[in-house]
Amino acid sequence: MTRINLTVDGAKVADDVEPRLLLVQYLRDKLGKTGTVIGCDTSNCGACTVHLDGTSVKSCNVLAVQADGAEVTTIEGLAATYDGGELHPVQESFRECHGLQCGYCTPGMIMQSVALLNENPKPTEQEIRLGLEGNLCRCTGYHNIVRAVQHASGQAEEMHA
Ligand code: FES
Ligand code: FES
Repeated sequence: MTRINLTVDGAKVADDVEPRLLLVQYLRDKLGKTGTVIGCDTSNCGACTVHLDGTSVKSCNVLAVQADGAEVTTIEGLAATYDGGELHPVQESFRECHGLQCGYCTPGMIMQSVALLNENPKPTEQEIRLGLEGNLCRCTGYHNIVRAVQHASGQAEEMHA
């Protein structure tokens, strides 16, 4: 067992974990953060995306011990990183633009979208599609997801023009 100390969604946590434990397992099984979901076991789908010190990562591809000393934000803590409202603006945009159907990919899509917009606040449609290429959705055909990100970036009107 290895001792880890980290901050998850604003709360400090400390645990003894197996060195092989994945961050996604730690979040879900130890902390009950089941908003972060597992869609594959091969780092392909992006459903498990969280922010690690502000950078998006696939949490099935990170060991819990690698998060030692870090700050992790999951979909459950995202709204609290934004001052105002119950939802983060990107969450609002996904709701507004119907950027989901079954919703399974949505936590990862939103976390990746937030990271994308932090890096590039006014992305083109192509940049959004490229930025989300590591996140798979089996339902929507991606169109409304792209719209949601455009909407969140304040470009919805230009898109409809
Ligand atoms: S569960 Fe992590 S990429 Fe699919
Ligand atoms: S909304 Fe169902 S997988 Fe994306």
